[in-house]
Amino acid sequence: MLARRSDGYHELETLFQSVGDADRITLKESSRGVDLTVSAGNAPSGEANLAHRAAVLFLRRWAPGLGVSIDIDKRLPMGGGIGGGSSNAATVLLALQQMTGEPADQLELHEVARELGADVPYFLLGGTALGLGRGDELISIGDLPERPVWLVTPPIGISTAEVFGNLDLVGLRPSRAPIDWSRIENWRWPVIEGGWNDLEETVMRCYPVVRDVYNALVEGGATLVRLSGTGATLFAFFGSPPDTSELISKLPQGSRVVQTETLSRSSLDKIRVVR
Ligand code: C5P
Repeated sequence: MLARRSDGYHELETLFQSVGDADRITLKESSRGVDLTVSAGNAPSGEANLAHRAAVLFLRRWAPGLGVSIDIDKRLPMGGGIGGGSSNAATVLLALQQMTGEPADQLELHEVARELGADVPYFLLGGTALGLGRGDELISIGDLPERPVWLVTPPIGISTAEVFGNLDLVGLRPSRAPIDWSRIENWRWPVIEGGWNDLEETVMRCYPVVRDVYNALVEGGATLVRLSGTGATLFAFFGSPPDTSELISKLPQGSRVVQTETLSRSSLDKIRVVR
């Protein structure tokens, strides 16, 4: 976290990583307009969903005669800080791009994604990437070895805007050792593990249940636990597999626990097939 910008956003140096936990989206061509339903899980349907706006922006510009119906099987938590809404919006852009014969060039698609939200451009890319500016100026990092990761979300939703709004920039740790961006193409997991999340302290102070999850994961043997974005999800790496049931019993009631893997860009490209 570097500074508050004149547009109200915050200047970031952040790392994005794809993981194997996702919503499922089905798109079908229709005669006209955009229709969005949420068949399972908790997310707004219709125009209130960012994925609806993504479809409207794409079709208006590149396929005005076309309509689409979208259904979302929502599995990721709302307000979880793992980019569910942003990734759905980006996935709709990619799917429409494929359905309509790729009328947009990469730069144009990126611009539309930026308009939808600061995290949306990353989800056009996937894999491991450094986000600068609002988080939407991206530098890709080559595929890293995939590794098991736990994602744990306490039973609360956190508003990104609220966390950034409450942030006391003066109270933030000035900075640890500066990061050497010039060597980014050689980054490996140990380098990435040396990073930190400036929002962690603020979020744990405002939402003590996030700290409870953090403590339970550390006590359960995690070698690294960190807040994802503005939370509420924490991700954890373990040196050796933990005692799963013992660890889950120590987490706050109602926590969502997913044991998955980090995904490289090449794996992601294989999964993200539109039929
Ligand atoms: O762009 P998006 O709608 O995802 O951002 C949600 C909110 O998070 C913004 O309105 C802003 O308050 C905050 N934010 C920020 N700095 C960023 C990204 C998001 O202050 N780099």
